[in-house]
Amino acid sequence: MIKELNLIDEKFNRAQQKEKFLYLKNNFLKNGYVVYENLLSEEEVSLLFEYTKLKRNASKWINKYCVGDYPNSFTKPIFSKLYFGLLGELDFKKETFSLSGDAFTDTLLNKYKNIFEKVSGEELYNTTSFLRFYVKGDKLLNHTDRGELAVSGTIHVGGNQWELGMKDLSGNNKNINLRPGDCLIYQGHNCQHWREPLEGKECLQVFLHYTPTKNEYFKYDRREGLGLPPVVTSEKDLEFKKQLGLGGYIED
Ligand SMILES: [Fe+2]
Repeated sequence: MIKELNLIDEKFNRAQQKEKFLYLKNNFLKNGYVVYENLLSEEEVSLLFEYTKLKRNASKWINKYCVGDYPNSFTKPIFSKLYFGLLGELDFKKETFSLSGDAFTDTLLNKYKNIFEKVSGEELYNTTSFLRFYVKGDKLLNHTDRGELAVSGTIHVGGNQWELGMKDLSGNNKNINLRPGDCLIYQGHNCQHWREPLEGKECLQVFLHYTPTKNEYFKYDRREGLGLPPVVTSEKDLEFKKQLGLGGYIED
C-alpha cells in the first residue's frame, strides 16, 4: 500500500515539474525573461553571502598592501584583479566589488545549467559566472549584454532588494523584484535592462551566463575550463563575433 502511494506521489511530482517548466519556457520565449523562484537553497544563499564578504575583504587587503612592488607575482595588479576581484570598476562606486569566474559561482553555473536548458529549450554551454556586490548610489545604465551571452540569470543573494527594469520582447517596460535565492532568467542580448540608483546600503547579485552549443567558440567564455579568471577579449574575438553576427555591449 505504502509503495503504491509513493508511486502515485512520484508521478504527481513529475507531472507538476513538467507543467512548471512548460509555464517557465512559454514565458521566457514570449517575454524574453521569467522569474525562477528559489533557484538557490537557503543554505547556498547564506554560504555565498558570507563567502563574498570574505572575498571582498581579501580584495581590499590585497589592494591596500600588496599592489605595486610587492615581490610575489600573484599580488601584482593584473593577477590581484583576476584572482581577488575588482573594486570600483567602470562607473561603480569605489567600494563596489566584482569577481568573475570564481570557483564557487562557476560551480553554481554548472550545477544549474540543466534548469536554464529546460527554460530556454536550448542545449547550452557554460560561459561564465560573475558576482557584483553593489553599494548605495550604484546604478546600471540601460544596456544589452554581449551577444554570445544568450541565456543569462541574475540571482539576488543578499543585502537590499533592488528593482530591475527590463524591456520585454513586446517593447513593454517591466519592473522586477527578486527575493534572496530567486533568479531572473533572461535574454540579455535581446532585452534592454537597467537599474535606478540603489537607495539601500548594499546588494549582492550573482550572474550565470550560458551560450547555445552552436557558439562552441565561446564555451567557458574562452577560458580553459571552469573556475578560471576571465580572458581579456582579443581583436580576434571581436572579429569572430562580428562574423557570427553577435552584438551587444560588454557591461553586465
Ligand atoms: Fe546586463
